Amino acid sequence: MPSSPSDSRPLVELRAVTKSYAEGDSVREVLSGTSLALHRGEFVVLLGRSGSGKSTLLNLISGIDQATHGEILVEGRDLGRMPERDRTLLRRERIGFIFQAFNLLPTLTVEENVRLPLELLGRSSAEASARARELLERVGLGARANSFPDRLSGGEQQRVAVARALAHAPPLLLADEPTGNLDEETGGQVLDLLEGLTRQGHACALIVTHEPAMAERADRVLTMENGRLVERPGGARGRGTP
Ligand SMILES: Nc1ncnc2c1ncn2[C@@H]1O[C@H](COP(=O)(O)OP(=O)(O)OP(=O)(O)O)[C@@H](O)[C@H]1O
Ligand SMILES: [Mg+2]
Repeated sequence: MPSSPSDSRPLVELRAVTKSYAEGDSVREVLSGTSLALHRGEFVVLLGRSGSGKSTLLNLISGIDQATHGEILVEGRDLGRMPERDRTLLRRERIGFIFQAFNLLPTLTVEENVRLPLELLGRSSAEASARARELLERVGLGARANSFPDRLSGGEQQRVAVARALAHAPPLLLADEPTGNLDEETGGQVLDLLEGLTRQGHACALIVTHEPAMAERADRVLTMENGRLVERPGGARGRGTP
């Protein structure tokens, strides 16, 4: 894969990030000084027990939520110093987010949900439609383009959420348990798609999962433990995948 000068700069950088939530009179610290650098071309898995702060970390990186202390940079831009509007634009243009709860819009059809990121970026209707159809085919839902999300099973909704997150080919893909509702075979196909598009597009994917087996295909494996990230190489590194 050709590398450009911008590759040396991390796509995402966390510097001593803490995140606390106030609960009644007490304060709960979820992240306690987390540092991390993610680069384009990396397929990264994030493990950790329930409640350890995985979704919190994704929300911070996407700018949906803000850190209590520390800095988070995406493509060199400090999220904490950006106005809300710029964070929204950055998220729309540069990030694809597969939410743990899917967050599909119930009043839009499956195809309209997948077209939405492209339409928000001002792409033509023809382009948005062609891309949405292509991705829906790839997640096995070509025949359901005109259905509404509430007519779909949990796993089908999850696959729509995957297609939507990939629609604008973002350099950064954040996925919160993207295969949590899928059987092994369908989950494997979704992972193939995520990994394939990440590697083809020289993007970076950070994928939360409870399945340790996913570490086999990752370049890096991060585990959230007591508010900090512990890292080890993934199986793909050992096989020499770039
Ligand atoms: N808005 C909030 N207010 C208060 N506490 C919160 C808030 N959001 C998250 N938390 C707390 O932060 C901790 C981490 O939550 P988070 O959702 O990041 O966990 P997780 O690792 O994604 O867990 P799971 O695997 O169950 O999805 C939890 O103890 C949760 O109760
Ligand atoms: Mg979570």
